Amino acid sequence: MTVSLPTTAIIGTGSMGGAILSGLLSPAVTVDGQIRVTNRSAAKAAALQSPAVISTASETDPRANLLAVTGARIVVVAVKPAMVAEVLREIAPALAADAIVISVAAGVNLTTMEVILPGAVLRAMPNTPATVGRAVTGLSAGTRVSAQQLALASALFETVGTVITVPEHQIDALSTVSGSGPAYVFLLIEALTGSAMRMGFTESDARLMVENTFLGAAELLAAGDLDPRELRRRVTSPNGTTERAIAVLEGAELGGVFDRATAAALARARELAAG
Ligand SMILES: NC(=O)c1ccc[n+]([C@@H]2O[C@H](COP(=O)([O-])OP(=O)(O)OC[C@H]3O[C@@H](n4cnc5c(N)ncnc54)[C@H](OP(=O)(O)O)[C@@H]3O)[C@@H](O)[C@H]2O)c1
Repeated sequence: MTVSLPTTAIIGTGSMGGAILSGLLSPAVTVDGQIRVTNRSAAKAAALQSPAVISTASETDPRANLLAVTGARIVVVAVKPAMVAEVLREIAPALAADAIVISVAAGVNLTTMEVILPGAVLRAMPNTPATVGRAVTGLSAGTRVSAQQLALASALFETVGTVITVPEHQIDALSTVSGSGPAYVFLLIEALTGSAMRMGFTESDARLMVENTFLGAAELLAAGDLDPRELRRRVTSPNGTTERAIAVLEGAELGGVFDRATAAALARARELAAG
């Protein structure tokens, strides 16, 4: 399925902005005109230049951000959270009245954005698998966003994965699941690799076993319409070996552990928001 997006600018094209740019450059996506991207440093800007991309740096042209958003219908702001307000004030005079501005910055709320900009603003919380086109992005719309504008923002983030639209009050909670989630998965992989090594496997064999088991299980989940509980049931013969292992894991109350982990992340998000 091809996606057509109107003229798009990315202000701050580092890790996350760069991942979004990769999504926009995929063959199934067409963007009206060249994609405009900016950074501060000229070196970073030069690396992103291509026939499909106009890449500029504020270091060499102080009007880079203003020029990038002029005529754009979608503007993605992907600078560090502390810089978002300053960037929004900077680009405000050049924004088209019907442009939508989407910030991916953690902790910068829609009210802050709406106070600075008169038009439609949204917040998005993608996660790091965006770099391989497998993101989960939480999307929250501000008060001036039409259904059509929300669909456009959603289509943009679908170029790097899956999109879930949530009310803004849930975006921090979403972040404790999908935002931090890749780290939880890597921790589980590390823990099982450690067990394999303690049973006498070399690190390289342990990694091969565990990493491919996670990838294979994820592929099984992705391939069919079976839910994880059913997939687990199919590996767990009654009275067999897996059943014994699962009983030990259930005894550790993994659900409770994840409740505490996500609650700790949420408490930290609130502390950070309070400054
Ligand atoms: N990385 C993630 O997994 C992730 C996930 C969700 C949300 N986010 C959010 O994404 C945002 C960016 O994070 P990141 O990890 O991508 O950081 P990053 O790699 O440092 O990217 C930020 C980029 O913004 C550029 N920049 C800074 N000030 C600018 C300005 N005034 N005008 C134009 N460009 C400017 C920087 O360019 P120079 O390097 O040349 O200064 C840099 O390339 C953050 O707000 C973060 O909360 C990140």
